[in-house]
Amino acid sequence: MKIIVFGATGQVGSALAERARGKTQDWRFIARNDFGGDFLDLRSVTELLDREAPDVIVNAAAMTEVDKAQTEPDIATAINAQAPGVLARYATKRGAYLIHLSTDYVFDGLGIAAKTEDDSISPINVYGKTKAIAEQAIFEQKCKACVLRLTWVYGVNHPNFVTGTVKKLLSGQQVMAFEDQVGSPTAATDIAEVIIKLVINHENSVTITGLYHFANSGYCSRFECARFIEKCLGERATGMISAIQTSSVKLVAARPLNCRLQTLKIQDALNVTPRSWQEAMVEAVDYLTPQW
Ligand SMILES: NC(=O)c1ccc[n+]([C@@H]2O[C@H](COP(=O)([O-])OP(=O)(O)OC[C@H]3O[C@@H](n4cnc5c(N)ncnc54)[C@H](OP(=O)(O)O)[C@@H]3O)[C@@H](O)[C@H]2O)c1
Repeated sequence: MKIIVFGATGQVGSALAERARGKTQDWRFIARNDFGGDFLDLRSVTELLDREAPDVIVNAAAMTEVDKAQTEPDIATAINAQAPGVLARYATKRGAYLIHLSTDYVFDGLGIAAKTEDDSISPINVYGKTKAIAEQAIFEQKCKACVLRLTWVYGVNHPNFVTGTVKKLLSGQQVMAFEDQVGSPTAATDIAEVIIKLVINHENSVTITGLYHFANSGYCSRFECARFIEKCLGERATGMISAIQTSSVKLVAARPLNCRLQTLKIQDALNVTPRSWQEAMVEAVDYLTPQW
């Protein structure tokens, strides 16, 4: 079984590359600079797919810089919305299985409950809108597709809230953390495991299709997350953490405040139990501290 993964250098793409190593399937990881890897050149993407004829496509590529997407909506639309449509058309034509990653940012972030797959979407920024268009484009194609919505993703080798907080606390810098943004920090490694399970299920003729949410279990505010990291670091943490409100910062793109995703559907379908965000975070902080 041949699997092509777009977005090889990203948080999820690189975690997947690490976890897929040694697996029996033929995994090919395509970076933006590889031939057919740039979603702004869809002709090459199509050529690559026609040449390689993968059985499975994993789309971990996206323009994820939320503020940049706001100021460059055409590019965000091309990468986040049009390219997934092309992947879905290929999947329809060749009977391939498409695993596409989406986001909690398709929701408006209102309320306090975790969002389910049945909740209606209402994105409040360009990034969320482009990701919502992709979901629709994929499902319109009626190919075998699993769309996996994620939230607060962090990989230990990439810049993000978690690695930034560890670094700042260890070097005596101040961490400003939103007190009113709530979600579930989710380890890229755990997402990679879910994707591998989807692929193995498909190989065994159990193809899981439709819309699913995945996140590490439990939730916290960004501020509580930073405090947890501080606790993990113990005396090594010399930086200070300040709680701030989203409204006090002028952001280019609006941010949903409630990013919680309910994950019961994927738990049932894949027989997985997500780790708690704290358990995954302890592991990440342990990994990160010897480096710095
Ligand atoms: N990060 C989050 O908190 C979060 C939350 C919810 C959902 N998600 C979704 O989860 C997925 C994976 O996210 P991530 O955090 O792993 O993202 P990431 O670390 O930002 O990686 C994005 C990947 O997309 C690639 N990319 C960017 N522009 C491209 C283009 N024009 N053509 C082809 N590839 C391009 C990047 O390549 P370069 O390295 O060359 O730039 C990188 O490999 C995305 O679909 C994202 O929307 C993320």
